[in-house]
Amino acid sequence: MELIVAVDKNWAIGKDGDQLIYIPEDLKRFKALTMGHPVILGRKTLATFPGGRPLKGRRNLILSRNADFAPEGAEVYPDADSLLAHASEDSFVIGGASVYELLVDACDTAHVTKIDAEYPADTWFPDLDARGWQVVAEEGARGRFLSLCDLQAGELMYRKEILAYEPTCPQEAADKAMMLEYIDRFPDTILLRENKWAHMTASGFIVNADVSKVLFVHHNLYRVWAWTGGHADGESDMLKLALKEAWEETGARSLRPLRPEIASMEILAVWGHEKRGQWVSGHQHLNVSYVLVADEDDTLQYCPEENSGVAWIAVEDMSKLANEWQMDPIYAKLLKRAREWK
Ligand SMILES: NC(=O)c1ccc[n+]([C@@H]2O[C@H](COP(=O)([O-])OP(=O)(O)OC[C@H]3O[C@@H](n4cnc5c(N)ncnc54)[C@H](OP(=O)(O)O)[C@@H]3O)[C@@H](O)[C@H]2O)c1
Repeated sequence: MELIVAVDKNWAIGKDGDQLIYIPEDLKRFKALTMGHPVILGRKTLATFPGGRPLKGRRNLILSRNADFAPEGAEVYPDADSLLAHASEDSFVIGGASVYELLVDACDTAHVTKIDAEYPADTWFPDLDARGWQVVAEEGARGRFLSLCDLQAGELMYRKEILAYEPTCPQEAADKAMMLEYIDRFPDTILLRENKWAHMTASGFIVNADVSKVLFVHHNLYRVWAWTGGHADGESDMLKLALKEAWEETGARSLRPLRPEIASMEILAVWGHEKRGQWVSGHQHLNVSYVLVADEDDTLQYCPEENSGVAWIAVEDMSKLANEWQMDPIYAKLLKRAREWK
């Protein structure tokens, strides 16, 4: 499902039961995007339409607890569940505030008209920037103070990717369930280290073209040869994160995903340790991994802050050099994936 909204600089959307301002460019976009699709709205927003009548050329699905409310040409539902049971995937949520708040998490795309001005207001839309949504398309400045952009639920996208992942073993099935539970319990901090119990990380298992070698780095903290990876620190695109970390830790310019999908997932225990003079207590890394591929003739350069070496290692020597018993099954899973996918 998608939503469409016009917001001012403070994510305000209304005042005294009406829009902040009517802008022809915005109305045109609204019509073009929603025409032919069901629209979902609250009873009060319907009242703002000319004559309080439903929009033409679209099924109007209205939320109202008032059993006597039966406007002609509209469908009225007493709660979100019964409405959603009758709404197709191509529906647009069109407001107002209470309906946006109710259904924003059920939407994966938001068409937002950003009005570059501040208005007196009494009704606001959820701040999508703060919720980690990302701009995926922007038409930029239109007219004097309009910017039209589409946002996608970045946070929801990584959760969706994890949800869609098919575990390959009992460890992954158990860890996937626990990761989703953590994400749902800590939706606002799970991408941040400030969540001291657990946070998201992404790793890269880097292979050469024929999967005879892996590109490993020597970790200062754990004093072992290992894959690359790091903390999300707010990044919700896990593949982008894995690629960024791999590039920073190896310098390999040709790095690319073998497939742009999660190759393994695991919850990794982190022992308590000192970092830059501060004690970091033991916690869990909710990790997703990707198989990345790089050319062997790339110039390599390790990141001295974290590593003291980077090298191509024959897969037969991987386990010996890694020297971490708990990583053996994970590397074995990833090697199997790499061989299947190459
Ligand atoms: N800028 C924009 O893009 C935009 C878009 C749309 C609206 N708006 C503005 O938003 C404001 C209206 O927002 P609003 O939050 O006050 O009103 P609203 O969301 O349009 O409608 C609220 C009404 O919807 C019904 N409703 C809401 N949640 C329900 C639920 N869970 N189950 C059953 N019924 C439910 C209730 O109707 P009953 O009282 O009948 O039970 C409730 O009073 C206006 O100022 C409007 O102009 C702005």
